[in-house]
Amino acid sequence: MADLSSEFVGIKSPNPFWLASAPPTDKEYNVRRAFEAGWGGVVWKTLGEEGPPVVNVNGPRYGAIWGADRRLLGLNNIELITDRPLEVNLREIKQVKRDYPDRAVVVSIMVPCEEQAWKSILPLVEETGADGIELNFGCPHGMSERGMGSAVGQVPEYIEMVTRWCKQYSRMPVIVKLTPNITDIRKPARAAKAGGADAVSLINTINSITGVDLDSFAPEPTIDGKGSHGGYCGPAVKPIALSMVSEIARDPETHGLPISGIGGVTTWRDAAEFMALGAGNVQVCTAAMTYGFKVVQEMISGLSQWMDEKGHASVADFVGRAVPNVTDWQYLNLNYITKARIDQDACIKCGRCYAACEDTSHQAISMSADRVFEVKDDECVACNLCVNVCPVEGCITMEELAPGAMDERTGRKVAKEYANWTTHPNNPAARPAAE
Ligand SMILES: Cc1cc2nc3c(=O)[nH]c(=O)nc-3n(C[C@H](O)[C@H](O)[C@H](O)COP(=O)(O)O)c2cc1C
Repeated sequence: MADLSSEFVGIKSPNPFWLASAPPTDKEYNVRRAFEAGWGGVVWKTLGEEGPPVVNVNGPRYGAIWGADRRLLGLNNIELITDRPLEVNLREIKQVKRDYPDRAVVVSIMVPCEEQAWKSILPLVEETGADGIELNFGCPHGMSERGMGSAVGQVPEYIEMVTRWCKQYSRMPVIVKLTPNITDIRKPARAAKAGGADAVSLINTINSITGVDLDSFAPEPTIDGKGSHGGYCGPAVKPIALSMVSEIARDPETHGLPISGIGGVTTWRDAAEFMALGAGNVQVCTAAMTYGFKVVQEMISGLSQWMDEKGHASVADFVGRAVPNVTDWQYLNLNYITKARIDQDACIKCGRCYAACEDTSHQAISMSADRVFEVKDDECVACNLCVNVCPVEGCITMEELAPGAMDERTGRKVAKEYANWTTHPNNPAARPAAE
């Protein structure tokens, strides 16, 4: 049986599935139930400094985007950090950690960008016995207007400075949570490393407005006729998160810096993909909010079964395995030739492939009078659009052809061949070794 146990910046957990800092981890009641359901760890909902309580809106906090089957694809929120008193959270964290010593309990913190504020809160958190801290430099709404959250995460110098304070005033491992609301994610990751961070976690939510009410002309969710941008998360953000994780994983300047992958993880497969791209573990929020805590059981059994099938004895076996295969465009092999193939038995004759190709692409699909759709190999550039718009999974696939392959029926050459490939700029072998 595959061993799912995980060790992330020295923090052990029975599996690599942690709940991200958010409502599921806002209180002891939730976290106990999460641990009973099987979660390997939690990042406690972000704590702020002692003082006047944080006050959330009392109208709707969430907006959403759904698929045609009403499956939740993207969630938007305008919620702030915890609105529960600091001492209550600290007491609960201590109790939970005491009762679940084998689970990871990391505490998310966001206080003003002042040395004294961090210096004051760190010992209080350390006293709970928590395994580590996560610095919330990501929240894009509400807190950023007060100079916290993504307002810090967008300035690498601030990230480095605050990370350094945390390393100076605490013995706990420091995970820096990054905002995706930035052009080059490598810059804040490098700053975190320079400040002494033990790891980075990403992504926090993406600035978003999920819709506009066309009667009231107000953004949704609407609070008394007004709306404000919120933070977007859920399955829709996974591709953005995967790309950002991979950029940090392959950046020579942050090489080896542990990464906790966050953003749209809903299934074991999502988790395995993040880990293959360099994440040592994953954190989950929207999937738990959508399906409940027991969703982790499918993640555990699915990952375990896949690891058994593939012969991965431990999670460390496949962490980062896809990183060497992420490359820059100029290194892609132009002599790799594929063509679309339509399975006539599976085709439902909807014509979507034809419309897409004829109207917007390369006029490479023919339609007969009785609606038989066929690919014209010599026109097909293998763009894959027909595969993506076809409503029948597996009906259209891409077949690899040898460069220069001929169509046997017409005797015409249908696959391009780059005769000058040995000197072509896309051929890595043609480049000086230093590149
Ligand atoms: C309602 C809500 C509240 C959140 N609050 C916090 C927070 O207090 N601190 C934080 O670091 N991230 C917060 N997040 C962001 C999540 O921790 C996570 O980074 C994000 O939702 C992406 O993961 P997901 O796609 O699995 O939801 C919140 C997310 C949601 C949906």
